[in-house]
Amino acid sequence: MKEHLQGSCISIDAKSWSYQIEILHERYLVHRYFGKKLSGISELHQERSFKKNYGTIHPDRTFNEFSFETELFELTSPGKGDYRVPLFNGRSSKGSSVFSFVYDSHEIMEGILDVPGLPGVYAEEGDSASTLKITCRDEDSGLNVHLYYGVIPEFDTLLRWCCFENRGTDPVSIERAMSFLLDIPEDNFDVLTLHGAYARERTAQRNRLNGGISSFSSLRGISSHHMQPFLGMLSPETGENSGSALGVLLVYSGNFLFEVEKTAYGTVRITSGMHDQGFSWLLEPGESLFTPQAVLIQSYEGLGGMTRTFHRLIRTRLCRGEHRDAQRPVLINNWEATYFDFTRNDLLKLADEAHNVGIELFVLDDGWFTNRSDDTTGLGDWQEDRKKLSGGLQELSQDLLKRKLKMGLWVEPEMVSPGTRLMQDHPDWVLGYPEKELTMGRTQLVLDLAHPDVQQHLIDTFTRVFSSADISYVKWDMNRCIGEWRSAYLPPERQGEVSHRYVLGLYRVMKELTERFPHILFEGCAGGGGRYDAGILAFMPQYWTSDNTDGVSRLFIQHGTSMIYPLSTMGAHVSEVPNHQVGRSTSLDFRLGVSMAGNFGCELDLRKLTQSEKQALSKRITWYKRWRLVIQFGDMYRLKSPADGEDSSLMIVSPDKHLALLFWYRRLHDASLLPPVIHLSGLDPSFRYREERTGASALGDELMHRGFPIEEPEGDFSVRIHQFVREESSASRQL
Ligand code: DGJ
Repeated sequence: MKEHLQGSCISIDAKSWSYQIEILHERYLVHRYFGKKLSGISELHQERSFKKNYGTIHPDRTFNEFSFETELFELTSPGKGDYRVPLFNGRSSKGSSVFSFVYDSHEIMEGILDVPGLPGVYAEEGDSASTLKITCRDEDSGLNVHLYYGVIPEFDTLLRWCCFENRGTDPVSIERAMSFLLDIPEDNFDVLTLHGAYARERTAQRNRLNGGISSFSSLRGISSHHMQPFLGMLSPETGENSGSALGVLLVYSGNFLFEVEKTAYGTVRITSGMHDQGFSWLLEPGESLFTPQAVLIQSYEGLGGMTRTFHRLIRTRLCRGEHRDAQRPVLINNWEATYFDFTRNDLLKLADEAHNVGIELFVLDDGWFTNRSDDTTGLGDWQEDRKKLSGGLQELSQDLLKRKLKMGLWVEPEMVSPGTRLMQDHPDWVLGYPEKELTMGRTQLVLDLAHPDVQQHLIDTFTRVFSSADISYVKWDMNRCIGEWRSAYLPPERQGEVSHRYVLGLYRVMKELTERFPHILFEGCAGGGGRYDAGILAFMPQYWTSDNTDGVSRLFIQHGTSMIYPLSTMGAHVSEVPNHQVGRSTSLDFRLGVSMAGNFGCELDLRKLTQSEKQALSKRITWYKRWRLVIQFGDMYRLKSPADGEDSSLMIVSPDKHLALLFWYRRLHDASLLPPVIHLSGLDPSFRYREERTGASALGDELMHRGFPIEEPEGDFSVRIHQFVREESSASRQL
């Protein structure tokens, strides 16, 4: 990061891009440039204003033609003629919604600063990371805005967030507090978003950006199954391997909003942050409000380049703790095998089978606590059900250990069922209006995590639960959306703060528990992948991708998820057929092939498998264990999207490029197609690779440019996994 032209320009440089800011007329924070890396900065600045004044207003009599409407900004002032989507809206104690933010000061600091109370990307020793903080002030209200820009050049990543600080003498009501805005002097873009629904999470969609405001959001209280807090801005010609792709990811787990405005003047403004609908925050003198961090990744190597940077960053600079770099266990989860109906004996029979096929961790899902024979009761009391589990959790964990299986446990801390003791003791601990009818979701209510006593109660309760047995893994579930943002703890004038305070409370609880139990591997879940976001991944390095484990559906879900999230975070389990969500039947080989491209596990009743199915599963698990470091920590290359026909394929390559895996899938077969030839990606062109299954040997450039032939598939739902090993190296070596 450097200052230029007597400090009136600042440039932020990463490996392949530069970002430039100008402090114009010593007052205005103007955006100069974000694009391919530049070697310097010049005096050159062209004011973007109209010569004709119809249809606009001018905020500054000294610089008459300076236009807030057409200039590119880092921050603008509401009410002064910038009619684009704003970063900030608010109201002063005098009732004014007009604020005049002017530049005050800036400083450059080493490292990446923490965002108080919120998760974020961090730097490690050895990274040449720095943070720029620019302060702007509004004289009348005393409200200061601090704009933060963090850069880790090695990761080509820009981090943006803001802080609103009341330095005045009266309160200010903040009604919109986005994390950043970015003005772009061009408007020819495609927009990539990941939308979906329960059991169809994160399906990639790419559309032309049209004039006006496009918005992508969640108001469900969680980042949601329906829209991912992510936006890709692509040049129309951008593909997997070439072209420009800007990815923006919000590190946040609650209500969010992305807005992209294509203006009438050939520019685009992007802004993202907490959703402003229903939001307000009363900032008393001396108080500050920090926004969530936004991660901006600019790639000039297409979508694939953007993806691999996100993967590396999330894996090594967002995820934390002792499991971050550790290989992940092969697990079995009893949910689809038993649902709520099990006894200790059933579990141990399943565990015997699991041990026999090479599984390493047994996850006891929902239903282990009292009063939980279906999903209408029981949440909140968290006492083991001794009728189902004679001997309790501790004995079960010991029995599992005897079978060389570690134990995992399902919990859903944020919820309470009607009729529980917790509900009777603390009727005011739920969100909503008890005087009206409380809105149910999956027959349960949401605890008010904005309330510090509720946060403490959860920390104490789950400290007890996690200490009650030898627990190595926890699945943290959350099975409903939130709607009624009312907290009995907060006064009426602060009810607009509840949705954000809920998320802050959740982060406090997650931080405390994950720090108290560093040896536990935590996996996030929200009715499948309903809150699979960077905020949760900062505490839990894994996520349950979707309840939909059907092989065909999963190809699409995993493809979309892979745009941002690394395979080490992506839970992918094989389940039985007909599939419990979509009723489809596919071959075991196909289902295994799909779930091996992620954090592999089983979600079925192993007792129902035939002997030959068990053998096939066991063989694949042995294979997975041998290759899991490459799968979980290698670089991913999407070769063909499942949306582009019946065939799809991807590759995972070890960072040193000595080992590579090709996953090729065909859904429906076509008798007249010739056997496909796949152009591999990510190999070293000069290395010679041997393909282990066929014994074929070829140079990397040949495999990538001439291609690798796949043998003719036999029928529907076929899969081929090929493993390439550099001839001089050995497949058994570690990454
Ligand atoms: C939703 C999760 O996604 C499932 O895997 C399972 O844990 C159920 N909740 C249990 O209620």
